[in-house]
Amino acid sequence: MRFDVVTLFPEMFRAMESGVTGRALRKGVAELHLWNPRDYTEDLHRTVDDRPYGGGPGMVMKVEPLKRALERARAAAPASRVVHLTPQGRRFHQGVAREMAQREGVILLAGRYEGIDERLVECCVDEEWSIGDYVLSGGELAAMVILDAVIRLLPGALGHEESAAQDSYMNGLLDFPQYTRPEELEGRRVPEVLRSGDHEAIRRWRLQQALGRTWLRRPELLARRRLSEEERELLEEYIQTHQGVAGSTPREE
Ligand code: ADE
Repeated sequence: MRFDVVTLFPEMFRAMESGVTGRALRKGVAELHLWNPRDYTEDLHRTVDDRPYGGGPGMVMKVEPLKRALERARAAAPASRVVHLTPQGRRFHQGVAREMAQREGVILLAGRYEGIDERLVECCVDEEWSIGDYVLSGGELAAMVILDAVIRLLPGALGHEESAAQDSYMNGLLDFPQYTRPEELEGRRVPEVLRSGDHEAIRRWRLQQALGRTWLRRPELLARRRLSEEERELLEEYIQTHQGVAGSTPREE
């Protein structure tokens, strides 16, 4: 899959060279192309910002260099939609990552300062996404979040030991807890069932933990998801055994 990113800080994307994304890029599972609006300025000072009409604090990204950089990216990746990262966008989630992973490519537009000229959004942006209800200093980290979430879903990105199908959210639930050696850590033992070798018991315990955690921490995820008969029973049992235990009532939002 081809990714093009329009950014004033291309060096930030060195972070993608680590871990799963780095391996995917080296294997050619994903390609990353960076376009810096500063390279498309025409004045001596290579100006990339300008004052907002109507006044107020902060600056807006200057239109022409940004538009030229975006046009170059679109010419290089004509099949890709332009995705603008902004706190004003719709909220990104795993379902969007799954859908994006089916595409040939995306052009990610990372804004800086107070944002980009709205007319540029109207003419040249296909989608706007936010990664959460907080304000970052620019769209770069949001673009990298999307890059990571999408790249790890591409065929060949994860080794066969790892599998995106097992990820939390792939089944609409939070993950069950994980343990590794030692068997006892400062008086806390690994749950006995995980050492039993009973695969069916382990599957049911993990499913129950995933359901219980989701019920405690993210009840709205459960409200959106249909539960099977087995899942309903396991969750019911979890709720019964956790009633009255500190920190074990669903959080208020
Ligand atoms: N740019 C600044 N904050 C952002 C956010 N929360 N999501 C996407 N892009 C952003």
